[in-house]
Amino acid sequence: MPDTILLTGGAGFIGSHICVELAKAGHRPVVLDNLCNSKPSVMERVGRIIGRPVDFVQGDIRDGDVLRRTLRDFKVRSVIHLAGLKAVGESVSMPLAYYDNNVVGTLRLLEAMEACDVRSIVFSSSATVYGVPKQLPLDESHPLSTTNPYGQTKLVIEGILRDLRQASDRWHICLLRYFNPVGAHESGTIGEDPHGMPNNLMPFVLKVAAGRATELSVWGGDYPTPDGTGVRDYIHVVDLAIGHVRAMERLDTIGCEAINLGTGRGTSVLELVKAFERVNGVRVPFVMKDRRTGDVASCFADPSLAHTRLGWKTERSIDDMCRDAWRWQQFAVAQGL
Ligand code: NAD
Ligand code: WQD
Repeated sequence: MPDTILLTGGAGFIGSHICVELAKAGHRPVVLDNLCNSKPSVMERVGRIIGRPVDFVQGDIRDGDVLRRTLRDFKVRSVIHLAGLKAVGESVSMPLAYYDNNVVGTLRLLEAMEACDVRSIVFSSSATVYGVPKQLPLDESHPLSTTNPYGQTKLVIEGILRDLRQASDRWHICLLRYFNPVGAHESGTIGEDPHGMPNNLMPFVLKVAAGRATELSVWGGDYPTPDGTGVRDYIHVVDLAIGHVRAMERLDTIGCEAINLGTGRGTSVLELVKAFERVNGVRVPFVMKDRRTGDVASCFADPSLAHTRLGWKTERSIDDMCRDAWRWQQFAVAQGL
């Protein structure tokens, strides 16, 4: 049954890919985004991929009037809530901005949804809510804790959503905990396009490979991992996007449930760099540095609940992530993005 789905933050890295997959599945994505970490051209490029313009509202999730108008005008059936600030380091230096944007923004959104009788939501949570892993792989029963304001906003919002479902079983809520999304759509025309200097590994690998930075700093070579570098669960952003479509389509069967979206496999920094060089035939010079404060040695998912509850598992490999990310980087450089 085709549905109209509001994507808050839908002009971002992950949201733009969800737009594509929703359209491919026959649904109608409507995007609300204030473009604080995106560009208008993203919607044009998504439109070219899906063969029709995307319904786009430039607005802030803290603006209740815009939210209510959008929910009503487009007759939205459910919401995928991605809008938020997401840089861990920035959140440490600007906690109030993160609580206002992420938590207050979510409260405004939920109030508007309730006023418009829209009570189905998929929320962008993060594996960061697991804190320092006590055992691996991480399943959804792992204790929750965070070490930074960004992660705390995710934990607080998960709590708000649980309380909402506790108050009324008319709410249907899926908390998707992403691991490390990387890669890009196969067209190479949309991808991760952070404003300013990237924090994450893949955007920095891309910058070095494109000659826009001289070398990659590998943060830590003395972790208790096979090659001493940090291990993470990198998931292709298209697999992640498809997981959202599956969750949205099954929301009526979900009360309030947290579900991991990951591959279940860990990949080290040096393994990713070597795969990137092999797949793309480019060099990524690197230098070993001290550990980055706050990093954990290893973090990867137990994705079995997503398989049983959503009928979803990842299909794309690390090689696919490296190949697709590089194609996007070459497009971005050619287009002066
Ligand atoms: P992104 O920055 O590319 O996308 C977020 C989008 O939200 C941007 O387009 C931005 O302009 C918009 N936005 C931010 N604040 C807004 C506001 N107040 N009103 C309207 N729009 C607003 O980030 P992303 O990587 O696509 O992440 C999307 C979501 O997934 C975020 O909530 C993030 O916390 C979460 N997440 C991301 C990762 C990751 O590694 N990328 C991992 C786990 C969870
Ligand atoms: C991955 C690995 C680094 C950059 C972060 C957020 C998390 C989530 C996903 C939002 C680590 C190493 C990195 C570099 C490096 N985002 N690295 N050199 O830290 O696992 O997770 O993004 O929810 O909340 O914390 O991802 O890509 O920053 O780091 O050596 O220039 O790459 O030490 O081992 P992380 P990352």
